[in-house]
Amino acid sequence: MIKANIAVLVSGGGTNLQALIDATKSGIIKSGEIKLVISNNADAYALTRAENAGIDTAIITKKDCGMDQNAFETAIIDKLDEYNVDIIVLAGFMSILSENFTKRYPKRIINVHPSLIPSFCGKGFYGLHVHEAALKYGVKVTGATVHFVNEIPDGGEIIMQKAVDILDTDTPETLQKRVMETAEWKILPRAVEKVCAELIK
Ligand code: GAR
Repeated sequence: MIKANIAVLVSGGGTNLQALIDATKSGIIKSGEIKLVISNNADAYALTRAENAGIDTAIITKKDCGMDQNAFETAIIDKLDEYNVDIIVLAGFMSILSENFTKRYPKRIINVHPSLIPSFCGKGFYGLHVHEAALKYGVKVTGATVHFVNEIPDGGEIIMQKAVDILDTDTPETLQKRVMETAEWKILPRAVEKVCAELIK
């Protein structure tokens, strides 16, 4: 294997996907190539980002699968097989995958989470809610975590973390932006490269 085949799963804006695309262009990611972007939301701007970069896309929604988790995950697996995917990156993918799915890809699924796990993570902690919770609690430091995905939501082995100071003036929105810019977009590409390099060794 010369390069690992990467699929990125998205749901929304796709700024982390953009960071991955940019990292493949700048050479930060050299051991893997993004072959496919799958969105569970037809309106996700992440799809436009992928198309602009010439990456194949697929839209697989739970609704199209009769709201059936098993059918939804089977449709994703079929697509991943079609593209011979080695590594799956969850980049703002707002759907929890079952054990049935995660056990198929041990140490092959990577997620980025906008806090320092084990704080503010698990079921219900996603997107802006994570930053609202951190501000409400009053922690002075937060950050981002990249980890492997297993059957426990946000419970897999940690690959990389980066801390971010919280300011007195922060709102959930300003904090989210700073965590993305200074932590997520930095460590996600580096973690993906680390895992791909290890795989193709
Ligand atoms: C990111 O902050 C990501 O860490 C978070 O959602 C945002 C997606 O933004 N993910 C989670 O909360 C998962 N539990 P993006 O679509 O611009 O990458």
